[in-house]
Amino acid sequence: MAKILVTGGAGYIGSHTCLELLNTGHDVVVLDNLSNSSVESLNRVQQLAQKSLKFVEGDIRDSQILDRIFQENTIDAVIHFAGLKAVGESQQIPLAYFDNNIAGSISLVQAMERAQVFKLVFSSSATVYDEANISPLNEEMPTGMPSNNYGYTKLIVEQILEKLAIADTRWSIALLRYFNPVGAHKSGQIGEDPRGIPNNLMPYVTQVAVGRREKLSIFGNDYNTVDGTGVRDYIHVVDLANAHLCALNNRLTSQGCRAWNIGTGNGSSVLQVKNTFEQVNGINIAFEFVSRREGDVATSFADNKRAIEELGWAPQYGLEDMLADSWKWQKQNPHGYG
Ligand code: NAD
Ligand code: WQD
Repeated sequence: MAKILVTGGAGYIGSHTCLELLNTGHDVVVLDNLSNSSVESLNRVQQLAQKSLKFVEGDIRDSQILDRIFQENTIDAVIHFAGLKAVGESQQIPLAYFDNNIAGSISLVQAMERAQVFKLVFSSSATVYDEANISPLNEEMPTGMPSNNYGYTKLIVEQILEKLAIADTRWSIALLRYFNPVGAHKSGQIGEDPRGIPNNLMPYVTQVAVGRREKLSIFGNDYNTVDGTGVRDYIHVVDLANAHLCALNNRLTSQGCRAWNIGTGNGSSVLQVKNTFEQVNGINIAFEFVSRREGDVATSFADNKRAIEELGWAPQYGLEDMLADSWKWQKQNPHGYG
């Protein structure tokens, strides 16, 4: 079993991944500055796993903290979630995004190089694909210039890591291009806890369901899709967490830098998500149609064959599970971690 440094491990996807790592016998060190999370997520991860992890509160841009972590722990590999992720905010405060996501990632790989740790799994995004590509999106398709600064940081970090692995063959890097992570751990003890008004569909739906928001605004009903609303590939966060373990195993025995899509391969429209949520959970979701959101595409879903064939990973959960688990988390924790 390996000792893994998880940056951003207190966050939504990071906490679910820490739990799967502990459950499979790995040792975990988390570095998180708690800028978008609560340490309570890690308390619950440890309760669920009945095992402890090491938590360091700090920033990936702080090279002293990074050096100390690598000196005090024999780290085998790093899973790098830390970063800012709000698309709209990235248009308002681009420098914060360039600093946290790009400079932060450079700071991390510099520290890894000093510590001679060369195995890395990076949280990338389907947003790196050129918008002209037609779904299902596969990894051979060209990347494009993302329409927002958040997406731009993911593309730049991917390119930096690719160049790094070409220049120095000791590196072994997985770029995981997530589609739309939703859902929560079956226990309902950990889940997504966005600050302020949710930007993403699923937390908005669950906050309407729990009475924190009046109604869902559906952004556009005139897209060229099954029912006019946007189509996305929703992936259960536990399936996504497990993809990191598969990528880690793959990287322990390989070199270079390679990208994998992590999605189910199925697209669901906003109305299908809303209607299925209502059916599965027996709750009505008030909604209205409003105009399209700037920057949105009609349809995005994955070709996930590469991950299935090369990583030995496969999604276990369907849309109904995702919606039931999202609701269980929100119902048990109406105000998230509080
Ligand atoms: P999240 O905000 O819940 O988790 C990110 C964590 O990183 C938070 O705990 C935050 O406190 C921490 N963090 C931020 N900046 C930091 C810094 N400079 N130093 C240390 N810690 C820092 O987000 P998430 O949904 O769990 O996403 C995890 C990763 O996956 C991010 O890189 C995100 O861009 C990427 N991603 C997310 C989605 C999605 O829809 N959730 C989709 C594709 C990619
Ligand atoms: C899904 C669908 C919306 C909210 C974003 C980022 C992407 C990635 C995942 C990090 C779309 C519609 C949404 C609402 C709605 N993040 N919608 N009403 O836009 O696919 O991806 O998160 O990497 O980079 O761009 O996800 O959940 O915001 O939207 O109608 O209140 O729901 O128009 O069709 P998106 P989302």
